Amino acid sequence: MRGMKRITDYSWEEYDALPVADKAECLARPDGMPFHTIFAQQFDRARLDRLCDAATKIRSIAKSRAGMEFLQRLLFHKRAMIYFTQPSSRTFLSFLSACQILGLKTGEVRDASVSSEFKGESREDSIRTFSSYFDLIVMRTQEKGLAERMAWSLSRSKRPVPIINAGSGKDQHPTQALLDIYTLQRSFERRGGLRGRTVVYVGDLARGRTVRSLSNLLTNWEGVRHVFVAPPQLRIGDDILAMLRDRGQEAIVSDDMAAWLPEADAVYMTRIQDEWDESQGESARIDTSRFKIGLREMALLKPGAILMHPLPRRDEIAPEVDADPRAMYWRQVRNGMWIRTALIASTFDCLSRIDHYFRDNL
Ligand code: NCD
Repeated sequence: MRGMKRITDYSWEEYDALPVADKAECLARPDGMPFHTIFAQQFDRARLDRLCDAATKIRSIAKSRAGMEFLQRLLFHKRAMIYFTQPSSRTFLSFLSACQILGLKTGEVRDASVSSEFKGESREDSIRTFSSYFDLIVMRTQEKGLAERMAWSLSRSKRPVPIINAGSGKDQHPTQALLDIYTLQRSFERRGGLRGRTVVYVGDLARGRTVRSLSNLLTNWEGVRHVFVAPPQLRIGDDILAMLRDRGQEAIVSDDMAAWLPEADAVYMTRIQDEWDESQGESARIDTSRFKIGLREMALLKPGAILMHPLPRRDEIAPEVDADPRAMYWRQVRNGMWIRTALIASTFDCLSRIDHYFRDNL
């Protein structure tokens, strides 16, 4: 499939107008895996399986000192810039740890006010500067589309450094979706997989980007039923509903969480994203009391269902729920580190070396 669409053949306007599948092709490496990781639609089922398999191999390789030494040598000659101008601790540390596992050295910017952007430099110029010093840029920004635009721009430069989108505005969070898929796969692998499962997403579905990316990835499994439960003011975007229906999946909108809990195979809770409020107290005026999970709600869930959350949580899941074996959110965090390690290894074409090491030593 490679060799057809190349990002360097397009002006930004031409690229931006391409259908998403063509964009994905532009962002891919010759083996079809992403070079730049910008949006969830870049991952088909085979690519997801490849990454989940690599993550599982890496985590068992990392259990021994010799295995850790092998991993550390894979990318010891590379450097990564972690550029996070939106608050984050877990995704930041997750990427930092993933880089450390593979031996990459890292630099970071976490606050644009301490960089030259404060002197009036454009984000584009700042990122272009990083590409002179680093071999990978992991970025989280407020602006939808900036990571994609930088991927286009760097690809045309003399240093086409890969970009990984670690959260772009209200739009996408592809690596969170990867860790969510990895968690779902591990939870259901011995119980028939993800086909035909009912996933109930709850909370701020209008402004949360994780649900947008995850529902996209889940279309890689047949017959998934997506139920979007939110107060009317925070309901999921019509673009996501249209995308799911287009791919033949059932997409249901509801504001009755309790009615859907007994149906769910996975419940994906999210917090209210009030940092996006357009007027003071906008979120505080919304009644969110029926969108929280405590022990009473857990009693409505099937014994085999799982409860997920991208974290950070507020009060949408009571701490007492943490002890329930169906609560997966702490495992999601750990899975995130391994799947991001796999993604970085894939970005630099190291997956077959990992396969060989695993075959010969484990
Ligand atoms: C999410 C994000 O930043 O979109 N957090 C994360 O990456 N784990 C969700 C959130 O902030 O609520």
